[in-house]
Amino acid sequence: MRASDAGFTGISPFGYGQSSLRFAELWNYRTAEIPAPLLIVRLASKGRAFVTLKVKCMQFRPAIPADMDRIYMMGFDVWAEGSNEDEYLSGCRNSPKYAQGKWFVLEHDQELLSSLIVYSLDPENSVFGIGSIATPAQSRRQGHASTLVRATVEHFRRQRPDARFTLYSDISSEFYERLGFAKLPQELQPYADSTCMIHPADAVGLLESQQIRVPKYF
Ligand SMILES: CC(C)(COP(=O)(O)OP(=O)(O)OC[C@H]1O[C@@H](n2cnc3c(N)ncnc32)[C@H](O)[C@@H]1OP(=O)(O)O)[C@@H](O)C(=O)NCCC(=O)NCCS
Repeated sequence: MRASDAGFTGISPFGYGQSSLRFAELWNYRTAEIPAPLLIVRLASKGRAFVTLKVKCMQFRPAIPADMDRIYMMGFDVWAEGSNEDEYLSGCRNSPKYAQGKWFVLEHDQELLSSLIVYSLDPENSVFGIGSIATPAQSRRQGHASTLVRATVEHFRRQRPDARFTLYSDISSEFYERLGFAKLPQELQPYADSTCMIHPADAVGLLESQQIRVPKYF
């Protein structure tokens, strides 16, 4: 199956209710080309330098089945909890939680650069949960996860301008604050070891006034 065949038509993976059908539209996607300038300096044979500006196009798209093991392995170093590769992959492939979400990837030249999963948590209030953000260890600190989170938010907002995104941060929350997320106030944080955050930042008020619920860990 090619990536371009992976469009999500018809029924949402979250059910068959009326709101789910509206939600299903969100899985119809357009792959987005994300240009990232790449400056290449080449030395000609006589010592003259040529500077070439190339545009490296990364693609944002939903994952296809052939991507899945590579996606799961992106977080192996932090999420394996002592299991070996086979045990870890088996757990991911059979995860009931993962089965409820949709994976998205950032790709360049058939290399998967970063991945995440999106859950529909509260379709009526356009609340989505972003989880399992990971970049392969050898490709970290090059901006890939940041690009993927931004592309995901833009993708959903194009179809649902009021879309809100929650996540649980297991790393420093500054990373997500740079991407427009805000921490929930301490009294609304359900867990001590993970920080619940929301995008856009001004949606914190909706949680404080209980117009939307604080999501359970997902
Ligand atoms: C966190 C992660 C997804 C970032 O991916 P990335 O492609 O390297 O992200 P970016 O290049 O866009 O941003 C890098 C920034 O992430 C932040 N960051 C990455 N890992 C971090 C960590 N363990 N603790 C705190 N901040 C971290 C830093 O601010 C870093 O900036 P720096 O390079 O200037 O230090 C990647 O490190 C990863 O896959 N980690 C393992 C899985 C994981 O922990 N996921 C997060 C769950 S909440």
